[in-house]
Amino acid sequence: MTEGQSLPVRLGHDFLRHFYHVLHSARIYRDDNQLIQKSVKSFQSILTDMTVAGDIALVLWRGRFHFGGEKLPYRRDAAGVVGSMLEFFSHRRIGSMEFLQSAKHASRDDLLMFVRLLNDVGTGRENLERFSQKLHKSGLTWVKVFEKLPDDLSGEELQDEDRIYENARNTYFHAVETVREVAKKASQGMVGVRKARRLAQNIVDLIREDSALMIGLTTIKDHDDYTYTHSVNVALLATCLGRHIGLSDLSLEYLSVCALFHDLGKVGIPREILNKQAGLTEEEWEQMKAHPLIGVRQVLGLNAPEALRSRIILGPFEHHLNPDMTGYPRTLFMEKLSLTGKILRIADVYEALTAQRAYRQRSYAPDEALRKMWLESGKSFDPILLKRFIGMMGVYPIGSLVELSDGGIALVMDYPTESERALPLVMRLVREGDAGWRRGGIVYLPDQESSERVEKLSIVRGLSPVHLGINPAAFFLHEQ
Ligand SMILES: [Fe+2]
Ligand SMILES: [Fe+2]
Repeated sequence: MTEGQSLPVRLGHDFLRHFYHVLHSARIYRDDNQLIQKSVKSFQSILTDMTVAGDIALVLWRGRFHFGGEKLPYRRDAAGVVGSMLEFFSHRRIGSMEFLQSAKHASRDDLLMFVRLLNDVGTGRENLERFSQKLHKSGLTWVKVFEKLPDDLSGEELQDEDRIYENARNTYFHAVETVREVAKKASQGMVGVRKARRLAQNIVDLIREDSALMIGLTTIKDHDDYTYTHSVNVALLATCLGRHIGLSDLSLEYLSVCALFHDLGKVGIPREILNKQAGLTEEEWEQMKAHPLIGVRQVLGLNAPEALRSRIILGPFEHHLNPDMTGYPRTLFMEKLSLTGKILRIADVYEALTAQRAYRQRSYAPDEALRKMWLESGKSFDPILLKRFIGMMGVYPIGSLVELSDGGIALVMDYPTESERALPLVMRLVREGDAGWRRGGIVYLPDQESSERVEKLSIVRGLSPVHLGINPAAFFLHEQ
């Protein structure tokens, strides 16, 4: 327990944890199993503790749990459990639960019955009503469950969670439009970057708030306008890496603008060459290789303060150069790459490898892309930065599709605990005939109990989204 926290806050997190465990074990084990007996016992004891001073309510409000009238603060170590419980509540349209003082007299059988009934509640409104009736009939009168109020009932703001998500989504598409606009105008003369600067501040703020969601959004790949979505994805990945290594907010803003415009020079290259199926002719290749310098020329034409412009130039100029200065464009006056250039190089190659582009024979699954890059560490990438990037992304980066040890397929959504990169929070995906895939339950891999009979779930391997016909971005955009 952490010092300085109020009693409800401390109990609230403990309660959620025990509640989560008992719900989880009830889905796996039969009543006589030792593990479930253990988790029911812990649940009983925390219920007794928390109702000692009177009735107490657990309320879900604007995407956060409130316990005993206090909002539970975000705790990184509890994020997995809290996330799963939020999902559990939302899925069943539960807005609050009130535990009456009489809960301390509830027997373990009663508690188990409550947990099993709760697990079985379906998604429709009638289901929750039916559940309340069943509770009443079974004499479980020490708990009351209420439906979630519609968000628009009071006309107040959206839930916290929804707000971040809406903001992230809008920023993403606004960024794509801004890059497109600047790219088009840049070829016609002076264009200002004030808007891009504001956008970069927004990106930095969002990454601070929810970097997992922002990395998730980089699974958006647009075949037709690849250069623009690519640029935004590179900006998100580069800024996340910059934040991971501790750059200041101002440096992150510069890095972000720089990444947004790193491929500005590609705008003049005909789409047929950019999207060419087979190998390029020598002439076409020369044209491709010219895009960094064309980009530099365009940046020089931008209406931006000197300090910003000289930083933005690094993006187009350096992003195809290796640490030993091989690559293109050939340069004789520079001896080493800037930090910005090194970061962009990593973000750029990772994004390009994982892109599903029409002309490419194969696109790499995120874990494969990292492995491939690791083999070229030192030659193509700054080894220390690449190591930090892999550490940040995890073995199976957010947005990866994975096969679980029970044969199921899941999408990596988050790494709630920074120190435990190997075990993410994943969302199961369920195939729905020909209609595609839908969201399944959330599993936080470190947070499972195992027994001799039931193995802990683990990740067996990474899978290619293309082969499975899954678009990970749709799940991050809440389209599925
Ligand atoms: Fe490029
Ligand atoms: Fe690029």
